[in-house]
Order: sequence, then C-alpha cells, then structure tokens
Amino acid sequence: MSTSDDFLANYSPPISKLEDAFIQLETLSKDEVSYITNLLNEQVVPHLVPDVSNYAPGRMRVWMPYEAPLDSPNSKSRPFTPGLLSHDIWQWIVNLCAKHQFQPDTCLISKNGSIKPHRDTTYASSWALGINLGQCNWNIATQRDLQVPDHTMHFTGGEVFNFDCKHVHSVTDVIPDRWSINVWSIADTNAARSNNIQGRLNDMLDANENVRIFIESYKIL
Ligand SMILES: [Fe+2]
Repeated sequence: MSTSDDFLANYSPPISKLEDAFIQLETLSKDEVSYITNLLNEQVVPHLVPDVSNYAPGRMRVWMPYEAPLDSPNSKSRPFTPGLLSHDIWQWIVNLCAKHQFQPDTCLISKNGSIKPHRDTTYASSWALGINLGQCNWNIATQRDLQVPDHTMHFTGGEVFNFDCKHVHSVTDVIPDRWSINVWSIADTNAARSNNIQGRLNDMLDANENVRIFIESYKIL
C-alpha cells in the first residue's frame, strides 16, 4: 500500500452539516408577518414585474434599493440599475438585519412562483439573509459542490434565516401569494473585484444621486 492508499483507506469525508449552508435566526410573530405583508401589498404590488430569469417561472419581483446584475460567464459587464426606494419597507429590513448583524446592501422582493435550483451570482456575498412570508418547501445543498439540493425544509411563514447562496438552492410547492425577501451584502471577493462589481455599483450611484442619498440615510443605524 502506498501512502496515498493508506490515506484513502482511512479517509472519511467530512459529514456535511446543515449549518454550513443554512442557519435559522428567528420566526417572526403573526403580527410582524401581517405588518410587513400589508406594507408589501400596499407599496410593492404596483411595482412588481415578471421575473425575467429562466429559473423562476411565474414569479413577480422588485429590487430595493437597486437591482444587481445577474452576471453569466458570457456577460460580466451588465450594469446595476435603480430599484424601488420605499423608506417604510427598507427601514423594516434594515432593522431586522441589524438585529442579526447582517449588512443589507440590496434585496429582491418576490411574490408567487417557484425557483429552480441555482446559485446566486458574483454580486452576492456568500451568506445572504432570507425572509419567508408564506408556505413553501425551501431546499438547499448542504455541500457547496452538490448540483442539487439534498435538504428540504417545510416553511409556514415568518422564517428568517441566513443561507450560503453559493450552495445550490430552490423553492418548491409554493402557495399562491407567498412573499419572499432575500437580502444580500455586496461581495468583496476576488471574483467580485475581477468583475468590477464595486465599480459598476459606483457608476450607478454616481448617475442616480437619489439612490445614493436613500442608502446614505440608513448608515447612521
Ligand atoms: Fe437565489
């Protein structure tokens, strides 16, 4: 037996743990769920647009306070664009994220529709924060290199959680009218730097002073 045979004979792969990919932070009270759902119905519904990505059929969505570029291997220069600027909703998100020591830079609010297995792209730091506001099955791969989720959770509404968005994840068995809010910190990884994520974000903020002012008004929190 060579040394490497010895090693392989004794090697057991690390057992993947759910906490490597997913950490539940809290469950919102019914009152909290009603508060934010009412706000979304009042202030977001008029701005919802169909999701253009091919992995979210039927989903309606809006970005706040700006839309991040969904880079692909063939397209790494798409711009950031201004999103919805709603103080009531952003304040609620900022407060919730502060409670869990999470930096909220951008978020996608979506309604209806399932989401096929995917990883989030270059703009996103690995750990994202999710807020689930309706029944669904929420699925994630416990290992980074798995191509399909191997862990499913049945959510009923109000779940707030961190998840590693570079692990393949999906949402299935969604009830009609389910809202979801996913919040990201903008990545500062080698990939983000080589794709000029920060430069593209600054270009958008330079061209849209109202978005910059909106964001800056929350830095004191
Ligand atoms: Fe995602």
